[in-house]
Amino acid sequence: MISRPSLALLAAGFVTSTAAATAASNTGSSDSFGPTIGSARENGPQIFNAIYNAMREFGSAVHHNGMSIFPGIVPEGVLLYHGTHTQEVPESLEWLAFEIEHAQGFARPRPSHPRPPPGKDSPRDPPEFQTPLQDVNHPLELTIAMRDGPGGRPPPPPGEGEPSSPGYLHTYQATRPLKMLYIDGMSAGKTDMGTLDTQDLLLVTNRSRPGFGEWDRSKDLCNLAEEWGIDGLIRMEPGFEIIYCHFRDGLKLLSARAQADREDPGSLTDPSMMMFQWATAAAQRYHGIGGSRVVLDYSSMVSAFFYPVNLTNPDHERPELPRLSQATDAELATMRERIAHNSFMLEPHHARHGVDWQGVTDMVVARYGDRLPFMAATDSPTLFRQEVNNLLNVYIDYAEEDEGLTAAKARCSEYYLQPVSPRTPEDQLIHAGIESTLTTICTALFDARKLVVEDPEADEPALAAGKEIIQNLMAVLQWSKWKECGACKADEVCFIAMWPFGNVEDHFHPSCLNVSSMSDRRSYWHMPGWGPPDHNRTRPQPPPPREGLVHQQQY
Ligand SMILES: *[C@@H]1O[C@H](CO)[C@@H](O)[C@H](O)[C@H]1NC(C)=O
Ligand SMILES: *[C@@H]1O[C@H](CO)[C@@H](O)[C@H](O)[C@H]1NC(C)=O
Ligand SMILES: *[C@@H]1O[C@H](CO)[C@@H](O)[C@H](O)[C@H]1NC(C)=O
Ligand SMILES: *[C@@H]1O[C@H](CO)[C@@H](O)[C@H](O)[C@H]1NC(C)=O
Repeated sequence: MISRPSLALLAAGFVTSTAAATAASNTGSSDSFGPTIGSARENGPQIFNAIYNAMREFGSAVHHNGMSIFPGIVPEGVLLYHGTHTQEVPESLEWLAFEIEHAQGFARPRPSHPRPPPGKDSPRDPPEFQTPLQDVNHPLELTIAMRDGPGGRPPPPPGEGEPSSPGYLHTYQATRPLKMLYIDGMSAGKTDMGTLDTQDLLLVTNRSRPGFGEWDRSKDLCNLAEEWGIDGLIRMEPGFEIIYCHFRDGLKLLSARAQADREDPGSLTDPSMMMFQWATAAAQRYHGIGGSRVVLDYSSMVSAFFYPVNLTNPDHERPELPRLSQATDAELATMRERIAHNSFMLEPHHARHGVDWQGVTDMVVARYGDRLPFMAATDSPTLFRQEVNNLLNVYIDYAEEDEGLTAAKARCSEYYLQPVSPRTPEDQLIHAGIESTLTTICTALFDARKLVVEDPEADEPALAAGKEIIQNLMAVLQWSKWKECGACKADEVCFIAMWPFGNVEDHFHPSCLNVSSMSDRRSYWHMPGWGPPDHNRTRPQPPPPREGLVHQQQY
């Protein structure tokens, strides 16, 4: 089964590389492993969500096991932040934050001598480095310990960054378009829940890397980046960050300012307030990075959802979270080759010419996102019928003979795809995924229409059946929009679990929290060696769904 655009492309000679031809023509034959239109259709709602949530903090926290890699550009002129113990520009790879508060968390002194072996802590270490991970209590301190504690970056040479010296906030500016690979989901979340699968299995296959092996992981990723002509990798924790591979190339230091130390009244070092400010800054990016600071090339996206691999989570309690742990090394290598290919193809200005697939998903969510939960909840057959008519009349020609509304249903599935023209093999896979998602939506809506519109006698049971159809549809779509809080007060933030912040309930039911209620919430994320303060951790269990999956509505 070859989709129409792919035939056209093959005929026009646009599809040239082997992998490209495989993408367009392989329908799952067992002799060669490659992306298939069938897999893209099957994983349609997941592909739809990956595109809709790309570079968006909220949806990427909901769907925190990312399965996709997007090449993209940080345009020339963009400001980026780095918090550290010295005024010097780093010599090698380091981390850059898109948000000021994120970098400020790291603007602090570091131990100036090699860490002592475990159990022989030196009294000269500042307190946050003396404690093994399981005793790091505050989630804020954990993010720091991940970079500078066991498995973190090597300590600075003796004399540099004495604990008595201040921390520094560096501001850098991109001096040219920077080539990036964006790793989606909560990809800077150092957990064993699957947030690192695309890094530790797909990009660099190392099945035994501990979650906290940040320095080795980043070095391996930068080795790949160098091979593939890429400047760095974009990941997400509370805030988006870049593992930037060569600070001396592509960046200009604008300033390196000493930050107030802990005793100074200008200090921001109360961990709870810092965590709140950091989470608030991350929340500003719930719906996008802002300022066109990253331009993704959706048409070069490579997703495990395109491939016939078993993404079932071996953890049966979290079936909604995909994992790559069952993929074979050969399968992973095939996917990695495609990422390498698309990285090579990334031109600094190319991204602007790719298809705006996120725009397509935005149009779909804008049309259906608020109406579906309303329909799933209403007790009024009249309102339900009116919503169905409002959503479907654009596709129906009431003067036309249309047996079973087949033509109308087909128009519904194609409607939001009409503005775009797929060009790359990935475009065709994305097209298939979105089309299958739209078909799922349209099938459900026309099924509901049959019950409540076509039957003039439609009664309470018909409404109940219609609502159930919509509820089941919502369970398939899993749109992150349905977990949003609505407006919060000025001293609160809509808080979703963002590694390492957040309790179990914050993942499943985000809510508005102020600084005092946010402090010390960290029971959701799991990593060996780090548990909740009571060391009595239970595995995250989805609480029973709220009535009918319904979200606060404006109606
Ligand atoms: C995997 O990672 C660990 C820690 O980062 C490292 O010690 C080990 O050598 C790596 N294994 C391979 C096969 O690269
Ligand atoms: C996929 O993996 C799951 C979890 O390990 C396993 O139960 C299932 O049988 C696998 N499915 C296939 C088709 O191999
Ligand atoms: C923070 O929120 C909690 C829970 O809603 C409330 O009890 C508390 O008074 C609030 N604190 C402040 C300082 O507003
Ligand atoms: C921790 O677990 C123990 C034994 O399972 C239990 O008795 C205790 O109440 C738990 N503590 C907390 C704070 O949940």
